Amino acid sequence: METNHPKWRRNAGGALPLFCILLIPTLGGAQTIAGRWVTVDRVLDNGEKLISILELKQDGNQLTGTVKSESFSMDVHGTATGNQFELFGPRSATRPMITGDLANGELHGMVFGRREFTAKPATAADQIPEVKYIAPPPLHDVPSNGLAKTPPMGWNSWNLFAGKVDDATVRSIADAMVTSGMRDAGYIYVNIDDTWQGVRDANGVLQPNHKFPDMKALADYVHSKGLKLGIYSGPGPRTCAGYPGSYGHEEQDAKTYAAWGIDYLKYDWCSAATIYKNSELQPVYQKMGAALEATGRPIVYSLCEYGMGHVETWGAKVGGNLWRTTGDINDSWQSMIGNVEKQVPTAPYAGPGHWNDPDMLEIGNGHMTDDEYRTHMSLWALVAAPLLAGNDIRNMSEATKAILLNKEVIAVDQDALGKQASPVKNGDMETWVKPLADGSVAVGVVNMGASAAQATVNASDLHLPGAVKSARDVWKHEDVRFTDGKYTAEVPSHGVLMLRVKAE
Ligand code: GLA
Repeated sequence: METNHPKWRRNAGGALPLFCILLIPTLGGAQTIAGRWVTVDRVLDNGEKLISILELKQDGNQLTGTVKSESFSMDVHGTATGNQFELFGPRSATRPMITGDLANGELHGMVFGRREFTAKPATAADQIPEVKYIAPPPLHDVPSNGLAKTPPMGWNSWNLFAGKVDDATVRSIADAMVTSGMRDAGYIYVNIDDTWQGVRDANGVLQPNHKFPDMKALADYVHSKGLKLGIYSGPGPRTCAGYPGSYGHEEQDAKTYAAWGIDYLKYDWCSAATIYKNSELQPVYQKMGAALEATGRPIVYSLCEYGMGHVETWGAKVGGNLWRTTGDINDSWQSMIGNVEKQVPTAPYAGPGHWNDPDMLEIGNGHMTDDEYRTHMSLWALVAAPLLAGNDIRNMSEATKAILLNKEVIAVDQDALGKQASPVKNGDMETWVKPLADGSVAVGVVNMGASAAQATVNASDLHLPGAVKSARDVWKHEDVRFTDGKYTAEVPSHGVLMLRVKAE
């Protein structure tokens, strides 16, 4: 049973991969849900099995225990009713993490109602390997790599493909980046997220798994299309999806990426939470930043630790070009808005070369309306967020194309000044203002309400050096006129009015 859900993470960190529960024979020989159980999370290319162990105690119908894997360790609690059980993670959790039943000496169930698992009674041989602590290096500043002068743009496999990404998919996405016009609009990076990793060879060099037979050839192909290739790892022994991470192999992995021709690394905390304290985030990220720098290859460095430890205050010092400020986005209005609003305190730290990252785009994945996707694109542009499409570029509706390929909105995101807008709320309307390099401003008014409403942009709120000279609706692609120092338009529920306004 594979799990990859933020709620399974300690410190919002490593995902709980699979897990297991135990059962021991008890009074009168009847089995109970209490005991020590094992489930196989993943089988690597060399046959190595990654397991999770669940140990449970039962008192009446109350269950308490732990679930542990190489990526994860968490206390759980819950109830047993006959052969059925449910388990919760943190004390505050309101919905069960694991539900299932005991049948024929095995536990069968679901994780978050989504992933099935089977757990068998664990034997003494079923142990989570001990990992030796490696102290992170002393702090020093990693020089800027000079990359990402504007927020990185491209595509990432995770939001839509998750574990189903492979060489053929990446090649066909690269083709589509060209034919759809995405590349020419600025979307340059094609980023493979988690699940590409195989096993380390006798020298410790990490090989891709069977889904990626030749990473160098894939990089050559992506480069031949005028695109760049990104990859994913993390500072722990395992990634969030339970594949080998870079722990103890940082320099070696950086050299491998450089040799393959990798141009971008997303580095995800995950199982590092089982080894390091949050106070060690900075030197741990610095270690890979320095390793990438030492390769001499320009590689964009993307930190992914969900905003812990005020990453915005030190991300650039460890060589980072961008850093996630939030947990994982999903394709819903609440998630999207929640992520962008969490960015607000980080605004002073955005600028050329180093960006706050509210996570990848969900535009085109089908669970928001086109108005909501236009708001998603507008807000990411206004907060100078990386624009990493997370949809199937090979198969986009006209509406999705019009949103992702809106050059006027992209220009706001890519503005050379690199300022991150912050919101001002007025009832259901939220107004975000972003100063631009040419002295104009971009402004977005989002209708958070359940019905269409009039949105007004007041020139006096835009901090322009003079009166409004011209204004343009960047979604309608038409010039608009301010009257008496304001412009008003109707905005649908969850929609946006976005203007670019120039002063005299
Ligand atoms: C974490 C990250 C996601 C994705 C997955 C892959 O959840 O936050 O963006 O990379 O890991 O396992």
